[in-house]
Amino acid sequence: MGRFEGKVAVVTGAGAGIGKACALAIAREGGRVVVADIDGSAAIACTAQIAAEAGHALAVAMDIADAQAVAALFETAERHFGGVDLLVNNASAMHLTPRDRAILDLDLAVWDQTMATNLRGTLLCCRQAIPRMIARGSGAIVNMSSCQGLSGDTALTSYAASKAAMNMLSASLATQYGHAQIRCNAVAPGLIMTERLLAKLDECMQRHLSRHQLLPRVGRPEDVAALVAFLLSDDAAFITGQVVCIDGGMLAHVPTYADGGNSRAARPAGDTPEAAAAPRCRWS
Ligand SMILES: NC(=O)c1ccc[n+]([C@@H]2O[C@H](COP(=O)([O-])OP(=O)(O)OC[C@H]3O[C@@H](n4cnc5c(N)ncnc54)[C@H](O)[C@@H]3O)[C@@H](O)[C@H]2O)c1
Repeated sequence: MGRFEGKVAVVTGAGAGIGKACALAIAREGGRVVVADIDGSAAIACTAQIAAEAGHALAVAMDIADAQAVAALFETAERHFGGVDLLVNNASAMHLTPRDRAILDLDLAVWDQTMATNLRGTLLCCRQAIPRMIARGSGAIVNMSSCQGLSGDTALTSYAASKAAMNMLSASLATQYGHAQIRCNAVAPGLIMTERLLAKLDECMQRHLSRHQLLPRVGRPEDVAALVAFLLSDDAAFITGQVVCIDGGMLAHVPTYADGGNSRAARPAGDTPEAAAAPRCRWS
């Protein structure tokens, strides 16, 4: 028996990347999955992969920023599979990130669109899911946040603020509906090498971004999917209202780590030239 036998899951942004890995992980453990994505053909391709593995899935083309489309998504889930037990709010307005700059340079339209998709879209999905979970007697929600929501950056102002707000939305939901046996947690990935990111980041940029990771490999969508599946499952039955980082240790160390400092000797090969040239310092 898989951990999700008899359960129905809605996963947004499940046509690619982390969302797709989550949909596959849930289906592989017996869950029936509604694969929701703004890219309908990507959603269909994901359901085809699930079907090829003898799983059950339904593709829905929709935009989480559109309240009517969100309502229709959950009505479809209920009509097709009989209800909703699990929700992964994974979709986000990633296409806006190149235009998401520092506060003084920020186009307010980018801020508004980012909030409308990431934060309001997540809220809309939660508002559709909660009554259906109450009707089923329990439910579990995972909101896909980001390490960007836990630390400042030189750009990505709107994205980071939306992810930080999603962390608090998760805590509020956990607080308000825990009595109804609904759990809600946020997952905060660091750098996860999806196909989209691989196509965008050259090797130099990948090395630059991973300098602060403590583990010597890149993060994969499957790493995040394993955590999401755990949090959705009864294995995490007493965990709610948490933000769980999955970042290879990116936010777990002192800032001097990547630039040398006392841990210089322990750094693996693959440092940037600047880091390699940095003087070796030690605690005396
Ligand atoms: N990849 C990373 O390094 C990373 C790091 C931190 C957080 N995250 C978060 O993980 C989640 C998934 O990221 P990813 O890297 O897998 O992205 P991705 O671009 O690989 O996949 C995102 C999917 O969501 C769909 N989508 C986009 N906007 C949508 C909308 N409005 N409605 C419905 N579907 C929509 C896209 O079509 C795509 O299929 C996002 O919330 C992102 O913020 C990713």
